[in-house]
Amino acid sequence: MEDMLMNITFHKSTGIFHLYNNDISYLMMILPNGQIGQLYFGAAIRDREDFSHLLETCYRTNSAYYSEELNTMCLEHLKQEYPVYGTSDFREPAVEVIQENGSHLSDFQYKGYRIEHGKPHLPGLPATYTEDDSEAMTLFLVLKDPVTGLMAELLYTIFNQGGIIARSVYFVNQGTEILHLGRAMSLSLDLPDSNYQWMQFSGAWGRERYLHTRELVPGTTSIGSTRGASSHEHNPFVILKRPHTDELQGEAIGFSLVYSGNFLAQAEVDNQNITRILMGIHPDTFDWKLSPGADFQTPEAVMVYTSYGLNHLSQTFHKLYQKRLARGYWRDRPRPILINNWEATYFDFTEEKLLDIARRAKDCGVELFVLDDGWFGARRNSFAGLGDWTPNKELLPDGIAGLSAKVAALGMKFGLWFEPEMVNADSDLYRSHPDWLLKTPHRHSSLTRHQYVLDFSRNDVVEHLYQQMSDILRNAHISYIKWDMNRYITECYSALLPADRQGEVFHRYILGVYALYEKLTSEFPEVLFESCASGGSRFDPGMLYYAPQGWTSDNTDAVDRLKIQYGTSYCYPISSIGSHVSAVPNHQLFRITPLSTRANVAYFGTFGYELDLNTLTDEEQAEVRRQTAFMKKWRHLFQFGTFYRIASPFDGNITSWMVVSDDQKTAIVGWYKILNQTNAPFSRIRLLGLNPDLCYHLKDSTQSFYGDELMHAGLSTSDSMCGELMGRKPSCDFDSRLFILQAE
Ligand code: DGJ
Repeated sequence: MEDMLMNITFHKSTGIFHLYNNDISYLMMILPNGQIGQLYFGAAIRDREDFSHLLETCYRTNSAYYSEELNTMCLEHLKQEYPVYGTSDFREPAVEVIQENGSHLSDFQYKGYRIEHGKPHLPGLPATYTEDDSEAMTLFLVLKDPVTGLMAELLYTIFNQGGIIARSVYFVNQGTEILHLGRAMSLSLDLPDSNYQWMQFSGAWGRERYLHTRELVPGTTSIGSTRGASSHEHNPFVILKRPHTDELQGEAIGFSLVYSGNFLAQAEVDNQNITRILMGIHPDTFDWKLSPGADFQTPEAVMVYTSYGLNHLSQTFHKLYQKRLARGYWRDRPRPILINNWEATYFDFTEEKLLDIARRAKDCGVELFVLDDGWFGARRNSFAGLGDWTPNKELLPDGIAGLSAKVAALGMKFGLWFEPEMVNADSDLYRSHPDWLLKTPHRHSSLTRHQYVLDFSRNDVVEHLYQQMSDILRNAHISYIKWDMNRYITECYSALLPADRQGEVFHRYILGVYALYEKLTSEFPEVLFESCASGGSRFDPGMLYYAPQGWTSDNTDAVDRLKIQYGTSYCYPISSIGSHVSAVPNHQLFRITPLSTRANVAYFGTFGYELDLNTLTDEEQAEVRRQTAFMKKWRHLFQFGTFYRIASPFDGNITSWMVVSDDQKTAIVGWYKILNQTNAPFSRIRLLGLNPDLCYHLKDSTQSFYGDELMHAGLSTSDSMCGELMGRKPSCDFDSRLFILQAE
């Protein structure tokens, strides 16, 4: 087993496909009825010719069977690879094809396969990639429905490292009739039992990606979005774990959709305890017309299997998404410390005020000044101006070019906010192009924040926004763009598409967003893009392909951020987590937390400030100077080290997490206490990921410990509330500490 390398084999005599590397095996088989069956996905098993015993079939009372000859073949009880409804499998299907005669039945028969080294790009869609063909292999399984001539190519990529399989499906109508895809999931996986817990990351504006865990029971368990964005409410990421699996050990499978629009993630436990996972574009808001010769590519879904617990599952996603999903100049670079004026001024600013904020920030060690909403058109509040991307000359006499030059003269980089997908009714854009909105004829149009959604399914709209944004980018010193999106899509309908294509609008909209991102990021490769959608409403892998960091939440309260960032860390790397120190009382919750705790939370992210540092006392400004110096020293470790969750904010009063350097010589542990406790018990945390044989010195102390001691006996976190501990400052509510450990 030790020498086993990544491979994909086809065993002709048994009709079995085996994708494997040192971590996982994925097994499929051509079934007697010509469809593809699923045999196994889990820890690596050695390759051999025959695994057909894993295909269990039997005659069951009251179940429909395929034919008198194949009377033990009940599709209802078979584990399949890309199932359809209506031909005796009554579970929810992976695909639905609506035909001219009104039939929805199809039968995807195996036609052939090919294996390629590397991984193909998915045209117009974000996806994981390889930099060298030796990093992965891809299996293409060609299936065809004999009646309609619809070809479905199932793509499976296995990487040479990690328990990762990336999947998608490519359709071509090779028949003569017009078809409609009513459902085209990216992934369907039938697992042989249902002894799993389902973990989802759900919430709302200001409390995104809170962890919820529930048992699987017969029937469906699902989350999704039909809002036009992946959403605050549910993230396109779920985990199935065994009941005893925890952060340190046990089996788990993560499912992640590389997509930013409407999605469905579902588990269905059937009457024989088989669990079917489906993941892809939400079928409720999807109908894609496929004329003869037309094709359709689904988004990519990524599955990760581990038998080493949830931290290991997350680390596999982090590495993949950090190195082989995020792209470009900023992918591997520590991120600049920024200051954003939104919570400092909202719409109430002048150029002088902005420069005051920038000057003080520069003095405190901040590197990038970001001008948020309100710099363009008639935008003095949220009622007007969206869509008119020309600088307001009353506020900024020399425009963005002038302001960015003044910021550059301070020795800082300059960043700018856009919300390209939206328009206010009170705007020149709306007045000149009222037909550019998504709106249904003769129906009322709903509002959010006084704005409408532009029809990004139209090329002319996307092109217009490209012209506006690229013009500003070309003519000013801009190093960073914050791309915001502040409402969901309602009354979805495109004026340019015919009736039988209206089911395509949601997906075409996201393709338009991706197209604009692609054009801008290719033309301005050194600009750092941060995605944002009312905080974290589009914090998904699709966005990460274009923007290597995202604004995690509009909630900047340090205590709430523990839950938000902890939940986010299950799938997304620390380098993607936008995190800022903001003012107190906090603007969302009115909570007062120590400046040190606000920074100690924000260090585990991209780090920045969201307040006017002029409002701080001299002593606080000195602390900010120490914080920025500290982050500059350690940001590579924070953002690119191996991240471990230690204690969950969803479980109790203490949260803890840590990062470890690749050589295991340096680690930083974050420890956070929500409420203070009288006469508190002594406390310890057991660290993770250290080298047991290295002796680590605890910074700012005289103490040193071996890695094995820190991982097994633990590190004391007892504070001044455990009696009079020498030399400790008094503890308080919302207290926190960082422990920096360094080995020779
Ligand atoms: C919502 C974002 O999440 C905020 O950070 C800010 O940019 C506002 N929009 C501006 O309107």
